[in-house]
Parts: sequence; C-alpha cells; structure tokens
Amino acid sequence: MASKGEKGNKTNIFKQDIPMIFKNLEVMSPQYVPDTLVARDNVITEVRNALSPILIGGYPRHLVFQGKSGTGKTVVINYVVNQLLEYLKEETTDDRKINSDILYVEINCEERNTTIRVIYDIIQKIDDTIEIPVVGMATSWYFDRLWDVINTHHVSLFIILDEIDKMDANNLLYNLSRAQNRKIDKGLFIGIVAITNNTRYLTEGRIDARVLSSLNPLSIVFSPYDADMLREILEQRAVDAFVPGVLDDLVIPLCAARGANEHGDARLSLSLLETAGHVAIQHNVKKVLEEHVKEAEKKNEVNAMIDVLKKQPFQSKLLLLCVIYQWQLREPEENYLRTGDVYEQYKLFSMELEKEVLGPTRISGLLSELDYLNVIDAPVDSSGERGRTRKIMISIPVREIIENIIVDDDLLRDIVEKVWGKTITDNPIKIPNLYYSPKKKRGKQTHIH
Ligand SMILES: Nc1ncnc2c1ncn2[C@@H]1O[C@H](COP(=O)(O)OP(=O)(O)OP(=O)(O)O)[C@@H](O)[C@H]1O
Ligand SMILES: [Mg+2]
Repeated sequence: MASKGEKGNKTNIFKQDIPMIFKNLEVMSPQYVPDTLVARDNVITEVRNALSPILIGGYPRHLVFQGKSGTGKTVVINYVVNQLLEYLKEETTDDRKINSDILYVEINCEERNTTIRVIYDIIQKIDDTIEIPVVGMATSWYFDRLWDVINTHHVSLFIILDEIDKMDANNLLYNLSRAQNRKIDKGLFIGIVAITNNTRYLTEGRIDARVLSSLNPLSIVFSPYDADMLREILEQRAVDAFVPGVLDDLVIPLCAARGANEHGDARLSLSLLETAGHVAIQHNVKKVLEEHVKEAEKKNEVNAMIDVLKKQPFQSKLLLLCVIYQWQLREPEENYLRTGDVYEQYKLFSMELEKEVLGPTRISGLLSELDYLNVIDAPVDSSGERGRTRKIMISIPVREIIENIIVDDDLLRDIVEKVWGKTITDNPIKIPNLYYSPKKKRGKQTHIH
C-alpha cells in the first residue's frame, strides 16, 4: 500500500485543470424536452386543439405527423402531452371531466413491425404482469386482450406510433380507431399519433381509404428549420448546457448552417454542438472553436458509418476485415489493393472460421456495397494487364471500425485477436497461414473485379 507521503506527492487528477465546458449535459440528450420550443407555435396550437376535446369528456382527434428527421415531431408531441398531464394534475378533481388515468405509450414501429407485436407492447405497458404468448394466436385474439386490459384498468391511452411507415399499419390503425365507444368502455379514449419521416405517407396509397375514413386523422406537416431557427434552438439549449462564455461566436452559426444544409435537421445541429464541446475537452482547451466543430463533423460521420456497418451481414464484415488487414500490411509503395488479393485473404479467413466461401461475383457485389457506403473507395480499373480489377483504398479510421463493429461478432473477434492481439494496434501481426501475401503469389489468384 502506498504510504501517506507518497500519496501526498501526487496531485489528485481531479484537482488538475479540467476544461469546464459543459454545465449540464442532460439537456443535450435527444430525449430532453425543453421548457419552450422554437418556431413551432402553430403546430403546438394545432396539436393542443386536436387533443383538447378530452377536457370536456370527448375524444381526441387522431394525428399524423409527417416531416424529415430532426424537425421536432417527437419533441412536439412530448411537449404537448407533458403540458396536458401537468394541467390535469393541477386541475381540481371537481372540475375534471376525465374519469380515467391517461397512459402515454410510445412504440417504434421499425422495431415492433407487426400488428401483434405492437398490441403486445401496448398490453405490457398497461400491465406488465399479464402473461400472454408473444406469437401463436390470431391477431383478433390480441386485440380482444387489449380491450380487456384497457377496461379492467380503466385507462385511456395516447399511443405514439413512431416510424409508422416501417410496417403495414392498416389493420392496427383500423382497429384502434374503431375501438372507442364500441370495444372499450364509455369515457375511455385512445388517441393515436402516427409519426413518419415520409412526407408523402398519407397520399401515396399505403393506407386504405376505408382505414383513412375511420381514422380521419389531422395531418400535420413539419417543415424543415432554416438556419435562423436552428441558431435559436441551439442558443436556447446552449444556455442550459454550456458554461457561460465557452462557445466562440462562430460555433453556433456553423452548427446551425450544417443542420440547415441537411434538410433543416435540429438533431444534427445539436449533436454537432455537443460533440464539438467534447472535442474541446479532449484537446484540453477552455473554449469551443470553429475547428472543433469541423473535427466533430468528422467524428459524427464516422459514428453514422459505424451504425450502418453494424447492420451489415456477417460476410460483409468479414470482407471488410480482410480489406483492413491487407491494407495495413501492404507494401509502402502500394497505394491501393486489388480485388484478387482481398479475395485470397477472404478465402484464408473463411477457411480459418470454417465458413462458406462466397464466389467472386458475390464478393465483388459486397465490395461494391462497401464502396457505396463510403467505407472503402473501390473504383473499377480496366487498364491493367490482368484485366478488370478494383483499386481498393480505405479512408476510414481503421481501429474504430474494428473496435466498434468487428469485435461485436464472436467469430470475427477470434480472427482479430489472432492477428491484432487483445489491444488492437495500427499494425497487425503477419501470421503465415492467415496472411495472403500478394507479392509472393501474384499471378495465381482468382481473377475477379
Ligand atoms: N422547435 C424546437 N425547439 C427546441 N428544440 C427542438 C425543436 N425541434 C427539435 N428540437 C430538438 O431537436 C432534436 C430533434 O428533434 P426530434 O427528436 O423531435 O425530431 P424528429 O422530427 O422526431 O426526428 P426523427 O424523425 O428523426 O425522429 C431534439 O433534441 C429536440 O429536442
Ligand atoms: Mg422522432
């Protein structure tokens, strides 16, 4: 154990100068609902009016929100419902015309993309002690359980169906919209808010006329924010999130401009501002500058790429691993890899993992997809002596890709540990039976492009 004297000589790391950039990070999180919203007064009023019949014992109007990502759809509904619930709490019980609890249920229809899964989730949110099978019963059986649980708990619902376009919602919307007054007890309501990034959702025929006429929704379109609106959103949030004076004057306008270029996306602008703050901390400086926003942009791009790569199939990740391995071990004078070399490497790794080896055409297709995703740059080159090949270059931060994507997969982690070791280094180790050396074997390889 260290003696008191030894301890005394070291300054506690928290006593050292930490750049104080943020004062409250929570307000930057996507779930945070600010006290006031910028530039959405008209929308808020429309939504309030649509929900307000419940205050006099009536039914809320169903809503469909359409707008590009980051235009405030989620925050607006959260804001209005929060205000409503707050208002109801303050109201004296004598004046109240609502005789039920109101439950706010949010479902992401990309994750829960069948009618049964959505109903199952709603039932569980009302009462998580109910045991019902996840599958195996008719859809109507699940609807009947839902009406039962609503009636026994005597609860009204606001159901937010986010990313509604990711499922066939006809059956769901039809039954939910017809339940009031028929299937559920008098005085209870189900208010539906369907949200989509597809600005043509209601007009492109995805929802049957019969369903639309039963739902009769009020459609609210969220227009993109312009740079001034985004600046206001950022300024409002920065007051709560950042220590006063740490943001250089150019920072907020730059983040706002980037969001405005990207279809008026407030999420992108906010995320850029937050990442810029973290970059400044990493550089151990006390002020967030324009250059930190630019670095933040690159970081966010890489993170977005990582999210896309995570969803790629196994073979695609394995192929990427081969490209990375070959790329790091290439001769210094080589500016690019050839398809054939990557394919030979792929065969070695596949055999080591005892996995099926895909044919050259499939591999060429996967390379072209990685190219499309901007993970690699792989233009086809027909000028060489050996026919068509791709010139494969890699421009992504390799270590981050390995640490965030490849090691998530048990099989690929095996390979990574063999060739890079436990701590991933910039240079992998050559292991003879796992390394295809383009130099030695050139000429023998399979010809593909
Ligand atoms: N008018 C506004 N005032 C203040 N903050 C806002 C406003 N609009 C959006 N934001 C903030 O911008 C971010 C993105 O907004 P939100 O999540 O509501 O977008 P969205 O339209 O639901 O996007 P997506 O379609 O991708 O889900 C959130 O952090 C939100 O708090
Ligand atoms: Mg949203």
